[in-house]
Amino acid sequence: MSRIFVTRAIPEAGLRLLEKKHDVHVYDEDRQISKHKLIESIRPADGLLCLLTDPVDAEVIAAGEKLRCISTYAVGYNNIDIDAAKKRNIIVTNTPGVLTDATADIAFALLIACARRIVESDAWLRQGRFDGWGPKLFLGQDLVGRTLGIIGAGRIGSALAKKAHDGFDMRILYHNRTRNTDFEGRFNAVYASLDTVLRNSDFVSLHVPLTPETHHLIDARALALMKPTAVFVNTARGPVVDEQALITALREKRIFAAGFDVYEHEPDIPTELMALPNTVLLPHIGSASIATRDRMAEMAAVQLLDALEGRTPANRVA
Ligand code: DGY
Repeated sequence: MSRIFVTRAIPEAGLRLLEKKHDVHVYDEDRQISKHKLIESIRPADGLLCLLTDPVDAEVIAAGEKLRCISTYAVGYNNIDIDAAKKRNIIVTNTPGVLTDATADIAFALLIACARRIVESDAWLRQGRFDGWGPKLFLGQDLVGRTLGIIGAGRIGSALAKKAHDGFDMRILYHNRTRNTDFEGRFNAVYASLDTVLRNSDFVSLHVPLTPETHHLIDARALALMKPTAVFVNTARGPVVDEQALITALREKRIFAAGFDVYEHEPDIPTELMALPNTVLLPHIGSASIATRDRMAEMAAVQLLDALEGRTPANRVA
């Protein structure tokens, strides 16, 4: 029997699998665990099931002297020091695939909400300001037949391309580290440099992981290339975008609108961003459907069980 530490109560579907065979300790407060508490709790653990908000850095990993596996309840694992884990031969796993459509759905929801000013007009109506139909009331942007620029043609980028291409007849431009001919064939997508995608797209959606190379990939220079009518959406990771530069572009109406599910210094949201009407702000709910979170919990648990019981986990990232 191994000792497992879980940093927050995840859906029962996952916890049950772990509890059947192992000694499971779940952090008993429904908030992010402090680094101090994480270090204390990881000391006796053989396995860690963590969240994307937990800083599993070299110091935390060093404290886990018995640690054999870190299973994160997320597809993104930029919060884990992979090199430190590798040095100790600690297996690291994630939950790809099961949250693809839920996240692409949220990206599409943000595209539509920004284009058609849904949140802004809803708030306005609730203030009692609707006094009848108007020919220029809340004019927005069409989606059908327009160009969607996808930055990152992986699973989530592909799921978004499918919705946009099949459902909205959108033209797909994309940029990726390497060309993806399958993506091009399925969605009649055109590969281009990042600058060309930004210059020519009516909508831009970000689907790259956060790495040292993608940090501030979208900065003031990149934003200046976009059309004044463009909508920008980020459901990937906040620090891929220079948030202050985006706030300036939105304030000066150099782009039409932006939808955020992630933030540069999450959970802190700049007050200037909150005040901008041409934004839609979500609290990092890309994968937050009931069924998806159950599947993520099961997958994270299975990865951890495989690693601790001597099998090779399917979703090993280190
Ligand atoms: C992930 O899994 O990385 C997502 O950001 C969760 O919503």
